Amino acid sequence: MKILHVSVSPRGEDSNAWWLSQQIIGRLHGSVTVRDLHASPVPHIDADYADALGSPVEPGHAAAARGSLALSEQLISEVEAADCLVIGTPMHNYTVPSSLKAWIDHVVRVRRTFAITPDGKVGLLRDRPVYVAIVSGGGFSGPQAQQPDFLTPYLKVALATIGLHDLRFFTMERLAAGPQVIAAERERVATALMQPDFF
Ligand SMILES: Cc1cc2nc3c(=O)[nH]c(=O)nc-3n(C[C@H](O)[C@H](O)[C@H](O)COP(=O)(O)O)c2cc1C
Repeated sequence: MKILHVSVSPRGEDSNAWWLSQQIIGRLHGSVTVRDLHASPVPHIDADYADALGSPVEPGHAAAARGSLALSEQLISEVEAADCLVIGTPMHNYTVPSSLKAWIDHVVRVRRTFAITPDGKVGLLRDRPVYVAIVSGGGFSGPQAQQPDFLTPYLKVALATIGLHDLRFFTMERLAAGPQVIAAERERVATALMQPDFF
């Protein structure tokens, strides 16, 4: 099985998002390609890309071979080559970090990963599991939530746009409370992931 690990935290392999992703990847048993959005940041989209997406026709070869359009093709190819995705991300200001948003802007692309039809947008990619590992300083789920959550609903809509509907969320919340909470959350997750029917 081919796994695409999209790593989002600026803290890289020291991050809780990385740790949680590794727990999931360990259960999936596959070969891993890492797209590290901190070590190799995806730039904001350029003018050729914005022009191409706003135009009713596909860009010419020259524009398609450079800048954001070329990077978009590479990032989409990585998704297409994967049997599943693991996205490890912190919550930043109630939603996805801007580095993950930049990746989404390159991957969610009209006429390439989704089509516009009279009935709305239709995804063009084959559906596959997307394991989303979210970590946060405060709580954002359940009755004890301390803040709104624009991360999980946004990711559901953005990825469904391109045909990825099978999202499975894993969270570690309230990590700003300190090392004891982090240790307890890691133990909870490790135990839960060991259950035979967890996936
Ligand atoms: C710019 C920034 C914004 C943040 N915004 C939120 C937020 O809205 N809600 C929250 O619960 N935590 C927020 N946090 C805290 C991180 O989600 C938290 O520290 C997380 O555990 C970091 O994960 P990591 O160890 O994977 O880097 C924010 C952190 C940063 C740096």
